[in-house]
Amino acid sequence: MKISVIGCGYVGCVTGVCFADLGHEVTLVDVDPAKLRAISAGRSPIYEPGLEDLIRKNRDRISATTDLRAAIRSTDITFVAVGTPSQEDGAIDLRYVLGACEEIGQVLKDKDTFHTVIIKSTVFPGTTKEMACPVLEKASGKTAGRDFGIGSNPEFLREGSAVRDCLSPDRIVIGADDPRTAGILSDLYAPVGSVVLVTPVTTAEMIKYTSNAVLAAKISLANEIGNLCKRLGVDSREVFTAVGMDGRVSPAFFRTGIGFGGSCFPKDVRALVAGARACGEDLKILRAVLEVNEEQPKKLLSLLRRHIPDLQGKIIGVLGLAFKPDTDDIRESRAVPVVADLLAAGAQVVAYDPAAMENFRRVFPQVGYVSGPDEVLGADAVLILTEWREFEGLDYRGRIVIDGRRLEKARAEAMIYEGVCW
Ligand SMILES: NC(=O)c1ccc[n+]([C@@H]2O[C@H](COP(=O)([O-])OP(=O)(O)OC[C@H]3O[C@@H](n4cnc5c(N)ncnc54)[C@H](O)[C@@H]3O)[C@@H](O)[C@H]2O)c1
Repeated sequence: MKISVIGCGYVGCVTGVCFADLGHEVTLVDVDPAKLRAISAGRSPIYEPGLEDLIRKNRDRISATTDLRAAIRSTDITFVAVGTPSQEDGAIDLRYVLGACEEIGQVLKDKDTFHTVIIKSTVFPGTTKEMACPVLEKASGKTAGRDFGIGSNPEFLREGSAVRDCLSPDRIVIGADDPRTAGILSDLYAPVGSVVLVTPVTTAEMIKYTSNAVLAAKISLANEIGNLCKRLGVDSREVFTAVGMDGRVSPAFFRTGIGFGGSCFPKDVRALVAGARACGEDLKILRAVLEVNEEQPKKLLSLLRRHIPDLQGKIIGVLGLAFKPDTDDIRESRAVPVVADLLAAGAQVVAYDPAAMENFRRVFPQVGYVSGPDEVLGADAVLILTEWREFEGLDYRGRIVIDGRRLEKARAEAMIYEGVCW
């Protein structure tokens, strides 16, 4: 099949390259020529384990262009995978999705063959049917379901293991209101061999938001209990290991610490809360999930102040800037508020991250970035913000360590050790 993917970021690039690996001809489209140049040269435009190898392996089947119109004309199916950031009030910003749909629609106007448009970006339930589809119909002068196909195919990959998640997902959700679109997507995904759920379009969108809401809620619940555990001298890890053994509860994602970040959980939970409010529903639990998450990084600073009350002029080392290990993504990383608070308190920040320093430097040029984690250990105190595996191998003896991610070696060795929830 000839596939185009609009938006060549963490989702679009991985999805497109994985489709190429399944044998399809893929055209990747982005407005950022640097990303496209990287792909054309056989390099990955993002830090994602295994992606560059897959780009090189499938080079003959992948092309990269800024010409969206040519990409639509030369392919049969288009996945829209552009960003859906938050607006000021937390509601979803649809300008990239609807902008792409407008342009796709203009091309479909003159296209004779049946084309299928799939919204892969995470969007509020109802967006594909009530917003994207009317934009496509108006721009093309055609009717969805009859003249072109439209559907939803939310993405569940995790940065850091995106290639594996994409090629062997837990499940594939296809949202389609017409049988032709459902059939095209089902055939496309059949070789993946995972469970495929075909649902109405709006249900598929709701499944994605609900998945992220459940995972975020699990983390904030774990953090609330973890905060209490710390006060009571109870080890929260022991608690959650035992709780997770209950057949009705999975042990996954009971992660205590400084909370969740990244490009999905915070923005998607905010969008769900804001969208629900607009429909007259107040999602109280999810509001609390966000509130707990905002408070967790502040706990790290108050633990640090127990040992160094005045941070003015002190050198504070930071291990980890990415929102999670194995990515260079710093969107909504918990390191952002922590470093901002340290700088506001007059501390000198020295930081190391194996992949995310370049991205972090654009936001915080005043931080001292060092070339190895050992250089961070010489600071007056060390904060652990991301659980990169290489931090497990460091020598923490004689150090003051405030840990937001529970590194067992630091816990065992540090002269003074404080964990956020344990
Ligand atoms: N990052 C994840 O782990 C993840 C996981 C699941 C779902 N999602 C969702 O997938 C969507 C994309 O997320 P992402 O992390 O890949 O975003 P991203 O910011 O990494 O990538 C989006 C890309 O779209 C490009 N773009 C914007 N407008 C365009 C246009 N008109 N034409 C062509 N390209 C355009 C941008 O230049 C950028 O490269 C979002 O809705 C997100 O919520 C993300």
